Amino acid sequence: MSLRLGDTAPDFEQDSSEGRIRFHEWLGDSWGILFSHPADFTPVCTTELGLTAKLKDEFAKRNVKAIALSVDDVESHKRWINDINETQGCTVNFPILADGDRTVSTLYDMIHPNADDSMTVRSLFVIDPNKKVRLMITYPASTGRNFNEVLRVVDSLQLTDDHKVATPGNWTAGDDVVIVPSLQDEEEIQKRFPKGYKAVRPYLRMTPDPKANWSGD
Ligand code: BEZ
Repeated sequence: MSLRLGDTAPDFEQDSSEGRIRFHEWLGDSWGILFSHPADFTPVCTTELGLTAKLKDEFAKRNVKAIALSVDDVESHKRWINDINETQGCTVNFPILADGDRTVSTLYDMIHPNADDSMTVRSLFVIDPNKKVRLMITYPASTGRNFNEVLRVVDSLQLTDDHKVATPGNWTAGDDVVIVPSLQDEEEIQKRFPKGYKAVRPYLRMTPDPKANWSGD
């Protein structure tokens, strides 16, 4: 059965460009982003991995570890990493899993046979420190992913885990958020949201982002 939000991210052991990885142990207490791409030495993938490397500080700020995957082997990954570093002006600083035996691709349902029966599609999973799957996105091979969007979702997940809020469409850190409809106790609302809120409708209550300073926290 395929994975669903809230499921425990399957653990695995697999080779990578940085040696053997035991996934849950490797994640430790971090958030994780596990993402697959169709093949090494392909143009879109090269830009995606370059982007991920350049976002190192943004991932670190959010306690997120990135790990990529394709079905190519470790030697190919290592040669490709040199190419990515050279062409994208970066240093790939995260492992790329070598999933030749499809261990991880199968666990995470990354091969979609009606799209391509041998290569992985562009799957991406955000996994929280409790090892729960919190986001799944799937893009076709021809469309590179937007890694700023991935960071935006991590911001939303981390904010909404800590406060009784949800984030509206197109929200980015610092924008107003909505108070969750289940929170009705006025005393608690005032305590949680001392800056107040605006009830546009009884079910749509806007309040300033409770995480005051997004510049580095
Ligand atoms: C790419 O990464 O550029 C790519 C991979 C497979 C099909 C099309 C594009």
